Amino acid sequence: MNDEAGARKGLRALAAELADCRACGLCAGRTQVVFGVGSPVADLMFVGEGPGYHEDTQGEPFVGQAGKLLTELLQSIGLARGDVYIANVVKCRPPGNRDPLPEEIAACTPHLMEQVRIIRPRVVCTLGRFATRLIAQTEAGMTSVRGRVKQTEVAGVPVLVFPVFHPAAALYTPANRSVLEEDFLKLKRVLERGTDALARVAADPPLSGEVQLSGEAPLPSEAPLRADGPAGSGPAEQLPLW
Ligand code: URA
Repeated sequence: MNDEAGARKGLRALAAELADCRACGLCAGRTQVVFGVGSPVADLMFVGEGPGYHEDTQGEPFVGQAGKLLTELLQSIGLARGDVYIANVVKCRPPGNRDPLPEEIAACTPHLMEQVRIIRPRVVCTLGRFATRLIAQTEAGMTSVRGRVKQTEVAGVPVLVFPVFHPAAALYTPANRSVLEEDFLKLKRVLERGTDALARVAADPPLSGEVQLSGEAPLPSEAPLRADGPAGSGPAEQLPLW
């Protein structure tokens, strides 16, 4: 169990250190550094791309239209913003909401990694391609990796990475919204059964290290849970297939 007071203190210290960050050109156009928000000991951490206008103005990630959708998606799986931690690949708003440049991402990455080291989430849900590329260390397109689990280490912390479309991609495209809604239901399963996923990977490792969640699997409430144990032993057989 992560020490909540210690983690809170660590995040505060890091935020204070970065408040006047000038490590890349984004400092010139920002109103403020948008550090991150949420539980310092969250099991689930979201990583987006970078602050937009509203985030830059308010100093909090995902408070605009895309943020409203993220909040709704969280609510749909029984979570509030305060239950999770939300951060971005870059902490300052790219001018005109352009994509962050490689040098801006490189300058900001150590700070995101430090946040991961402090929070020690079990699951990192990457929102869109920039976060997915960085956190999952993949060049694969979102369409092929979204809704899939990757077991890896981020900043030395063992995590399950779960990429989903960026909520902004769903704002004007209802089809993307349905995909996001489905993926959040899978995310709920990953959160509830993460250890089982690890056990299954260990027993039958896919070459890529990624596990496709079965769309047919019953929701956790419909299936018996098991205590941690080796995959394939006893009650593990009762789990829905991943
Ligand atoms: N989009 C992001 O990627 N991050 C935010 O904080 C807001 C919108």
